[in-house]
Amino acid sequence: MDLDRFIAGLPKAELHIHIEGSLEPEMMFAFARRNGVALPYADVEAVRRAYRFGNLQDFLDLYYQGADVLRTAEDFHDLALAYFRRAAGEGVAHAEIFFDPQAHTTRGLAFETVAEGLLAGMAQAERDLGVTSRLILCFLRHLSEEDAFKALRQAEPFLDRVAGVGLDSSEQGHPPAKFARVFAAAGERGLRRVAHAGEEGPPAYVAEALDLLHVDRIDHGNRALEDPALVERLAEEAIPLTVCPLSNLRLCVVSDLADHPIAQMLRLGLRATLNSDDPAYFGGYVNDNFRAVGAALSREDIVTLARNSFVASFLPPTQVAAHVARLDAYVAEAAAHG
Ligand code: ADE
Ligand code: ZN
Repeated sequence: MDLDRFIAGLPKAELHIHIEGSLEPEMMFAFARRNGVALPYADVEAVRRAYRFGNLQDFLDLYYQGADVLRTAEDFHDLALAYFRRAAGEGVAHAEIFFDPQAHTTRGLAFETVAEGLLAGMAQAERDLGVTSRLILCFLRHLSEEDAFKALRQAEPFLDRVAGVGLDSSEQGHPPAKFARVFAAAGERGLRRVAHAGEEGPPAYVAEALDLLHVDRIDHGNRALEDPALVERLAEEAIPLTVCPLSNLRLCVVSDLADHPIAQMLRLGLRATLNSDDPAYFGGYVNDNFRAVGAALSREDIVTLARNSFVASFLPPTQVAAHVARLDAYVAEAAAHG
């Protein structure tokens, strides 16, 4: 079986996808039309042309602007369902989706509008497509600790349907330490914890995310490779990294996919996974990310990445085992039939 077909059918989980980052330009226009929102673009091609980023902040400016077309619970439902349809077609059996409530409440939407729309889309995806999912509330790190506490308070009525909290947005100058207390409060409420770290920020931010935020996973983590002691710790503690190659390329975290460190991460014994981050902005969904780095990896590496995605998920162990068994069966079947 050729590599593309093998990747296409490979059972996998996606653990690093910002649902607002799955807003395709066509959807942006459709939501803008239905909500009477004026866009600063003439057409879909103009949007795509604007997606040239020199760094994370260049992207974030357009990402928050794009999110402004999302106004109703139905919009969030439709956005989520469109992602799940796409994911289901790519062998994604389970997805843990990030959302940025503060990107919406700061422009006047109710937290409930966002959460109820997304949760309805997630429920429909499970019913109609068989894709399970979890919701992760990300705090915007360029905003204050107090703002993060406010988002956590707004989430209170939904906490039985929120798996965890995350930390995203502008990394440099906004270290994990800024959010130690709100992450502690989230932990007291039984929430799992993840954080973007080492995307643009230094290795020290990765260590802080572990020591001060007590995260279960690190989102990205690329720059951890600059610190051998930290790498050893990540490997020893089996801390999952949710790595996003096409995002890294588009945000200039790597200058060339040939230089992407995913193979090195696996050689170092890190529990890496592959993910799309913001697929509508970075030119590809999860399988595009597998294909983008596939040439540098063995078939065994690719299977390891898929296995890691289930092992690193927040699913209960019995469900993880069932997914891994299905993955092993797929690999055996592929080997048997060339
Ligand atoms: N928000 C959406 N995508 C992000 C990324 N890659 N890094 C930080 N914040 C984000
Ligand atoms: Zn991200």
